[in-house]
Formats: sequence, C-alpha cells, structure tokens
Amino acid sequence: MNITYYGHSCFGVEVNGSHLLFDPFITPNKLAEGIDITGIKADYILVSHGHEDHIADAVAIAERTGAKVVCAFEILAWLNKKGIVNTHPMNIGGKWKFDFGNVKCVAAAHSSSLPDGTYGGNAMGFIIESKEGNFYFAGDTALTYDMKLIGNYRTIDFAFLPVGDNFTMGVDNAIIAAEFINCRKIIGMHYDTNEMIKIDKKDAVRKFENAGNELILFDIGETKKITA
Ligand code: NI
Ligand code: MN
Repeated sequence: MNITYYGHSCFGVEVNGSHLLFDPFITPNKLAEGIDITGIKADYILVSHGHEDHIADAVAIAERTGAKVVCAFEILAWLNKKGIVNTHPMNIGGKWKFDFGNVKCVAAAHSSSLPDGTYGGNAMGFIIESKEGNFYFAGDTALTYDMKLIGNYRTIDFAFLPVGDNFTMGVDNAIIAAEFINCRKIIGMHYDTNEMIKIDKKDAVRKFENAGNELILFDIGETKKITA
C-alpha cells in the first residue's frame, strides 16, 4: 500500500484503489507548511476523535473532494452542521463494509471534544481489513491491555501508533503495544509537532529494533510503499 505522511497523525493510505485520509491536521501544523491540502486525494476521511489536531482540515478537504467522512456519531452531527453530509457514523466495536474493505472501530483510551467544545463521543482507533492486508490506526491512545484483543482478532500487517508521549503513549509503551497487537511493523505518529511531544527519533528506532520490531518514521510529504 502506498502511504503518504502529512505530519502529526495525518496519513493518506491507498487501499484497493481508494484513497483513505486519516486525521487531517495540516494547515495549522508549522512542520507541514510544505503540504498543499488542495492536492490531497481523498475518497474517505477517517477521524479518530474530535480534537483540533485530528480534524482541523477535515471540513475543507471533505468539501473539495466529496470524500465520505467516517467518524463517531457525535462528530458526524458537528460536521453535518458545517454542511458535510457525506458521512458514515460508527462507534467502538462496530464494523462496516466499504468498497475498499472493512473498517472496525476499536477502543482508544483518550478524550474527545470538537474544537468549539462540542462533545465528540468516544475516541476510537480503526482496524482496516482489505485484500491487500490489514492495518491498525490507533488514533490517540494510552497503552491498554485491550490491545491484546486486536492481535487475537486479526493478523495486523502494520500499525500506526502514537509515540510522542504526554498526550498519548510514548515510545516505551508503543513497543509493548506492538507486542500486544502482535505486529512487528510500526509506523510512528503524534510526535515532534510541539515541544511536549518531541522525541529522539534515532533512539526510538533503536529501542524498537532492540525489541525485535521495526519503527518506521516518515518525513512529512514522503510516500512509502508498505507491504503486508
Ligand atoms: Ni487527542
Ligand atoms: Mn492528538
């Protein structure tokens, strides 16, 4: 699958010809100044929770592309009020078949409110199941023992995990999360965007290596082909 990083926790993933965009937060991100959001392809926008640093550009990109936004019901109501009506509501534990594959929503230990303070429902993670492989996008979350269920439920070929600490789990807990979900190929996210989530990237990669896992860190704007 071709994966492009747009900074913070925002990734574009091409699955079976569909462009999935996760947690669009680009224009307020100084590190992502080089990204032009009008050039980003999206057939689906998946929003893990309502915080500004995951939804900032969702309305603009959904308006331009007509992409279907997949998110918690409470976020859908907020988007509807902003004129975004091509939406699909989900909640933790639920699975739905889309044309590219299945999306299953899983628990994230985090909070969720929209930028204007509106209640955002529960923060979630997503498991994407497709003919090209399965992956887990954790969103913002702490390490939880429930992650073992994800590893038992499906073969996870690669996973997006937050590694920045302070607001989410950090590198050491993400290494344990990788064990729990039984996945060796981890793509790091939610780091370096501000002072509170700065990481030592070389050290993080080494720590994962020592644990027998691979931590993949993208440059912003970079596209890599990640295979199952
Ligand atoms: Ni958050
Ligand atoms: Mn966040």
